[in-house]
Amino acid sequence: MRWTPEEDDILIQAPSLPEAARQLGRSLDACCNRLRRLRTKGVVPLVNRPLVRAPAPKVAHDIDLPKPDFGRLPLEVINSGDWLRFGLVSDTHLACKEERLAELHNIYDLFASEGITTVFHAGNIVDGYLPRVNGDSVYVTSIDGQCLYVVDAYPKRDGIVTYFITGDDHEGWWQKDGFNFGAYLQYVARKEGRADLCYIGHVEADVEIRHPSGASTIIKIQHPGGGSAYARSYAGQKQVEAFEGGEKPNILVQGHYHVSNYMLDRNVHVISMPGFQDQTVFARKKRLRMEVGGAILAFKVNPDDGTVTRCAVEFVRYFTRGYYKPYLRSDARLLRGHLVLNP
Ligand SMILES: [Fe+2]
Repeated sequence: MRWTPEEDDILIQAPSLPEAARQLGRSLDACCNRLRRLRTKGVVPLVNRPLVRAPAPKVAHDIDLPKPDFGRLPLEVINSGDWLRFGLVSDTHLACKEERLAELHNIYDLFASEGITTVFHAGNIVDGYLPRVNGDSVYVTSIDGQCLYVVDAYPKRDGIVTYFITGDDHEGWWQKDGFNFGAYLQYVARKEGRADLCYIGHVEADVEIRHPSGASTIIKIQHPGGGSAYARSYAGQKQVEAFEGGEKPNILVQGHYHVSNYMLDRNVHVISMPGFQDQTVFARKKRLRMEVGGAILAFKVNPDDGTVTRCAVEFVRYFTRGYYKPYLRSDARLLRGHLVLNP
């Protein structure tokens, strides 16, 4: 309904908008809009009356809640100290023909160039030997042979120490009658002059980062069991669900599945690791995907209680072996194109 000049006068003169609305028999919204338009036209000075709605009337079911206090948090709450950075690898399965040694050495070059000094290995450093599973793909079948193969072939970079766990599969096939493969591998490595390979546990190991305050941050390195799940996050989710409330690590690094994933669940940063092994015949038969790559883990903590306040996981994924052939100088020299047969 159009506004008359008389109504405009009442609107301008009324002591308040609700009073104007009452006198004019119009809604509060209509009066507010009209006053705004008159101000735009310059009919009413801006100081005439603030365009503030009257508070909504109280209704029976309203309750008086205390207004939450608002204050600014200090940035240090989430951004204290330096980044803590670690290299992550897993499932290198050395001594089998599907190993990806060129890529494993490549990622250690990256770790070195990034100034990383500590690398965690989440199990299956070697392929082990169980004829019905990998009998056609390992080229060193004995325990000593695979240990020496690690000593000779596993990346060694100045200033980098690799802390590894063992899985209950592959190298774990030898883990019986009290024999401890991880400790033995470390013994052979030391004997052969490699102090950079340190065994820290079978199936799982907790790494404690202790801060000057006495608080700790726990990284659990784990080689879980079971086959790969239908979704890349599923195994990690079930693992985090299964942790007791007081036993949750801050960060969980899982090997075994050869599939990359990161998620934050129940305040646990869960990292599932790709491996350094191509898909084997066994894996193909089981329809298991095999991703190749490693990761750099960087995080910050609240030093007062060790909680992780920022976390960044950078996966470095490698493509199929064929993609890197041009970069292998030996291949480039020795091979001239691919084999063509003319029947
Ligand atoms: Fe594995």
